[in-house]
Amino acid sequence: TRHITILFIALVSFIGCKEKTETQKKTNQTPFLWGVATAAYQVEGAYQTDGKGESKWDFLANKVGITQFLTGKKETANVAINMYDRTQYLKDIQLMKELGVNSYRFSLDWSRIIPDGVGAVNEKALAHYDVLIDDLKEAGIEPVVTLYHFDYPMILVKKGGWANPEMITWYKNYAKIALERYGKKVKHFITFNEPYIDFFVAEYLMNMEQSKDPAVTRFARGMMKSHRQMVASAEVIKMYHEMNLGGKIGMTFNFSPCSPLDPNNPKDVQASALQEKLLNTVFLDGYFKGTYPKEVVALFTKHDPAFQPTAADMEILAANKPDFLGINFYAPALVKYDAAEPFEMKWMEVNTDKIKSHNGPVRPEELYKFLVKIKKEYNNPEIMITENGAGFEGEDIKANPVVKDPLRADYIKRHTEAVLKAKNEGVRMIGYFAWSGWDNFEWVYGFTKRFGLIYVDFETQERIPKQSFYEYQKLIKAHKKL
Ligand code: NOJ
Repeated sequence: TRHITILFIALVSFIGCKEKTETQKKTNQTPFLWGVATAAYQVEGAYQTDGKGESKWDFLANKVGITQFLTGKKETANVAINMYDRTQYLKDIQLMKELGVNSYRFSLDWSRIIPDGVGAVNEKALAHYDVLIDDLKEAGIEPVVTLYHFDYPMILVKKGGWANPEMITWYKNYAKIALERYGKKVKHFITFNEPYIDFFVAEYLMNMEQSKDPAVTRFARGMMKSHRQMVASAEVIKMYHEMNLGGKIGMTFNFSPCSPLDPNNPKDVQASALQEKLLNTVFLDGYFKGTYPKEVVALFTKHDPAFQPTAADMEILAANKPDFLGINFYAPALVKYDAAEPFEMKWMEVNTDKIKSHNGPVRPEELYKFLVKIKKEYNNPEIMITENGAGFEGEDIKANPVVKDPLRADYIKRHTEAVLKAKNEGVRMIGYFAWSGWDNFEWVYGFTKRFGLIYVDFETQERIPKQSFYEYQKLIKAHKKL
């Protein structure tokens, strides 16, 4: 009997333990992340506070006056929407609580943390983000941290920026400091935001470097920079996994599924197929498989012989798998053949739909289809929609107590529905972040394009929730238990 009793006790405790593990597993599982997103330069302001160094965007906005080329007005984010200020951001956290989000995606400013890019670490800046993270967690809001969102120390830009392969080492050095400092408290990191757009607008479209080379050459050169960010990302993913912090790390891309403007025109069909590869496939294959489509590599090398991803680079990409894929989705691309355009195709500003957002046609079903396609073709990875949102000409007129933005409210509703539909069909969606919580500094467009769920009076810093804020609030409430 003694043996039987011992056996019985052992069995009961075994079952107990097992049950505990199951429940633990359940409680440890992060709930679906409903959030809003921002990026440091667009919202923080305080451009010289606490020992911050000059960044690429401080330079572009203040010294080059980059916004005036498109808007006719010189604007900077020196003040932005004042979110570096704790008194201000605590109020914004209250607004997030009212909205009902359980997470907030924001980025760290490298030029605050290491003002000269590679040398001394600025404790004040590190402490600032530490307090922000604690404040968020106290409010029940999970921080999702982007390490690099278009901006980095100007001193490194002067050393060639991503055209200089040493950037990979410099970025790793910076990322290590951030991961060591925040890795225990933050459960989701994003290495880079939109490697394509990082060179596309200022360097390719606007040709800020005033290069005499043809656009296709400048594009291929830009893609080499993106490739370096892919490699740097993979190396940091490796580092993060070795640190064993128990969280997740991934990279964010801007994806626009492509379709021919006229499906019956073979030239449009061909143009669209190429655009799909340049915009989406090249990054998806690189990220998940450690390969790039051969014809894309050949095309870039033809236009810029310096486009040379090495075998070692590709091995790093293949060997270090991310934990999730970050997608910024705004609009699909409608592509048409155009002999006068680089690569003989045009997609930007091609929009035959009646309703036009700042970033293109509103087609949530394209997001759904794209998510399902990724599930099938890339082995069902975890996916986070790190940005989704829109701005429309004529909306967002200041009014009290609510700013009217029916088109944005409808956009958010239909896109979250698309995400949930994909999730219900087995796509491993882990989160959705609206871009943005607040109107903010829209890069080369300055303050002329608003994307917020909350209206910001840029003069007074007053915040007024918009209709879309209440729409999103309703959606989150309805789907809280995901
Ligand atoms: C994507 C970028 O990550 C973000 O910084 C920008 O403001 C939005 N697109 C809106 O265009």
